[in-house]
This record gives sequence, C-alpha cells and structure tokens, in this order.
Amino acid sequence: MECEVQSGELLTVASDLAVMLYAEDEALPPSVVELCEAGDATGRFKQQTLLYPRGVLPMRRLLLLGMGKRSSITADTVRQAAALAVQRAQELKVATYHIGYNGNLPLTPAVFGQAFAEGSELGAYRYTRYKSDREETPTPRAILQAGSDAEAAVVSARRGQVIARAATFARDLANGPGNEVTPAFLGQTALELGERLGLKVTVLDKPQLIEQGFGGILAVGQGSANEPRFIVMEYGTAGQGPTICLVGKGITFDTGGISIKPAERMDDMKMDMSGAAAVLGTMQAVAELQLPLHVVGIVCAAENMPSGTAYRPGDIVRTLSGKTIEVLNTDAEGRIVLADGLFYAQRYQPAAIVDLATLTGAIMVALGPHAIGLMGNNQELANRLIAAGEATAERVWQLPLWDEYRDAMKSDIADLKNTGGRYGGAITAAGFLAAFVGDYPWAHLDIAGTAWVDKPTRAYQSRGATGIGVRLLVELLQGYVEKSA
Ligand code: BES
Ligand code: MN
Ligand code: ZN
Repeated sequence: MECEVQSGELLTVASDLAVMLYAEDEALPPSVVELCEAGDATGRFKQQTLLYPRGVLPMRRLLLLGMGKRSSITADTVRQAAALAVQRAQELKVATYHIGYNGNLPLTPAVFGQAFAEGSELGAYRYTRYKSDREETPTPRAILQAGSDAEAAVVSARRGQVIARAATFARDLANGPGNEVTPAFLGQTALELGERLGLKVTVLDKPQLIEQGFGGILAVGQGSANEPRFIVMEYGTAGQGPTICLVGKGITFDTGGISIKPAERMDDMKMDMSGAAAVLGTMQAVAELQLPLHVVGIVCAAENMPSGTAYRPGDIVRTLSGKTIEVLNTDAEGRIVLADGLFYAQRYQPAAIVDLATLTGAIMVALGPHAIGLMGNNQELANRLIAAGEATAERVWQLPLWDEYRDAMKSDIADLKNTGGRYGGAITAAGFLAAFVGDYPWAHLDIAGTAWVDKPTRAYQSRGATGIGVRLLVELLQGYVEKSA
C-alpha cells in the first residue's frame, strides 16, 4: 500500500477513480449533484454511490462515500472510510485512486492525514501468506488530495503509514500458525528487527533461562519441544527521555497444558502471543519514528503443551523474583510467564511499565470484543491509556484493582497461587501480576477480547488478528514525548 498527499482539488484530477468523502449535512458541489439522482446519495456513514461522469468531470469513476453527520466525524470515521475506499479500489482493480474531503474538514489536517493513512493501510491488509493462489497484484496507490492542507497532511500521513505498517506486522505475527511462530521464531524476528532498526536486542534461550533463574517461563515452556525464549529489545538509552517498559505475553500456542482446553476453537490459541506481537510492532514504529524516549520491549515467549515433561497442577514454581507460585491450573500460564517479565522490567527503573496479554476469558465476558481491560496501580498512567484509547479507537476500559483482588491470589503453601476462583477472573489475574511490579507505575492491558475478530466491527479490520495495542501504545508514547519536550 502506498499513500501519498497532493495539493490539488479532487474534482480537477483525471484518474481512474476519485473517492469523495462527504458529510450528510454539507452540500455536494453542483457538478456532482448533476450526476446524481436526487435523494440517492444521502451521506449516511459508509454509504457508497459509484458514478460514471463520462467526460463531465475529469475522472472515469467517482465514488461518493458517506461520512454521516459532520459533527460526529472523528479520526475513526476517516479510518473506516479510507479502508472502505481502498477495498472498493481493490475490487475495481484500479492501480491508483485519488481521495478527498468535500467541504470544511471537521478535523485538523494532521489528524485527518494520519487517520487516512492508517485506514488505507489497515483496510488493504489480508493474511495471504499461505494461499498458493494469492493474487500478486499490488494493492492500489492512494493519493490524498488535501488542497491547501497538503503540507500539514503529508507529515502526518507518513506517520500514519509507519504506525499502520507496525500494526500489520503485528497482525502477520499473530496470524502466523503455531508451527511457524514458535518462541525461537519470535526471538529471531526480534533480532532481525534490531538489526534493521538499530535496536539492542537480547534473546535468552533455555540454558540461559535456567542459569539466570527464569522459573516462570521455564515451567510453562517445559512441556514443549519448542523451547522458551526471553526477549529484550531496547530503543534509545536511559536519560534519553523517560524509560517505558512494554511487556508482552508471548504464548505461541496455548493448549492449556495438562489442564487442557476443549477442542472447539483451540486453533485461536495460536494468537495467544498477540501481546508479544504488539510489543514487537510498537518497537518497530518507535524506532522508525525516532521518538526521543527510552523504550524497552520485553517478550516472554513459551509454548504451553501437555506432555510427559509438562508442568502440572500442584507444582510449585520459583520465579525470577524469588517469589513462589502454586500452580492450580496449567491453563493460567500467561500470568506465570509475565511474572518473570514484569519483575525483569524493574531493573530499568522505568517511569511506566505496560503489559499486554491475552490473559483471561473473563475479560471477554466482562467487556465483549469492544474494549481492552485496563487494571493497574497508577491512575495517571491509566488516564493516559484511556485517552490514547479514545484517540486511536483501541478503546480501554478500567476495572478496579482493590487489595481484595490481590489477596485472592495468596496461596497457603507458596507465595501466590495462579488462579483466584471463578468470579472477577480478569481482575484477580491482574492482582497476581501486581505482585511482580514493585512500586513502579504499572498498567495491565487484557487484550483477550480484542486481539482477534471473527466478524470485523470496523472496516479496517479483517478476520483474524487485529494488531491491537500497536496504535494505542504509539499514541501513549507520543504523549510522553510531548510531556518531556
Ligand atoms: N490464553 C487464555 C485466555 C484466553 C481465552 C484468551 C480465550 C483469548 C480467548 C489464558 O491463558 C487462559 O487460558 N486463561 C484461563 C485462566 C483460568 C484457568 C484461571 C481462562 O481465562 O479461562
Ligand atoms: Mn491458558
Ligand atoms: Zn494463554
């Protein structure tokens, strides 16, 4: 996908396809009204009206794309409209199309340009890697006709493209099957990312994990022939702006282990490394955008399998922190690997730790597929994430984390147990994680409900992994840049 910005007006450009975005309550230009039967093109959000101007206007096709009421247009309206446009252009098999907004932009050119690029890039995405008959036709080139706003839009469109490509990178990783995307594969991917973008990357393999005492990751991974990895990616240096640690759950396949899951939909558990994918994607974006921050990406990668060497219910595991965990259910494995990753993050004395994990079915029960669950120990950080969620439409909803939820995770015979009973399961999981972050500002994002979709609810999603977390985290980090500047 290529996105460009030009200064001309949409209706003056000769092209195979021009896409005019317009609001319900803003008049269309007379030359366009001429081509249309009164009342057909209402401007209802997502409504598409394809016209063939036949020489009356310079383009061969004119697609009118409704944006709804002008006052309700947000960045996400633009993202979705841009996605619909690129999908229609793909259907029509045009190599290049031009797109523009009719009337007065209800958003700043910067917000508009970024949303346009994100929607175009994400909307064109399909996971086709394993399709033998995949079409090799390149996705069409989108040219934003931004009139006098072109200068402002050009920079932000470039930004949007970098961010969206980081999100599709995360989608590709999460959509990748468990037999390809193993812990070692994630490690290799991180090393390549580091090589390409100048990050400092360390990948610990099993002997190193044993030597250094990563008991949580080792326990979860011990049942699999695909050995676990611990991955650290460092962008910038301490002192270059605040230090932010991002920690991702990287379970490359979650069978549940000895506490095995039912067969139905178990295949989805190839995406149980979506948190890790979001961390890798965010590191790519941060490096490409050259943000003046110190960002440390940490991934806890393991495969949770049942076997003769697997960990079992009743086992007691000593984590990197020295704290012990009584394993009551081997399917509550995400928190066990994160225990090591979160504790490790403390060594950077970070201004914030944010973890992302497809951690609990309970968060899906609570919020459905429409919001990321947020829990943490610091309201300022939580507020930043909530604001970033609104800006990116990767919405975040906070749940409480009172002491009672932490207490629910105390074990009679070890420091902690890994399940806290049936009720409040998303929060007791967070209560468990809280034991490993010390007093550092920390936020936990449970993305179990949002990391993939069966039926997309937004035009820029496609079935499978959503790449959620990347746009959210980049927005969060951008906020730290503005604060420290
Ligand atoms: N990876 C799952 C959570 C999950 C379930 C994500 C469905 C996405 C869709 C996690 O490891 C898990 O199995 N959690 C258990 C915890 C329970 C045993 C305390 C759960 O939520 O059932
Ligand atoms: Mn599990
Ligand atoms: Zn899991």
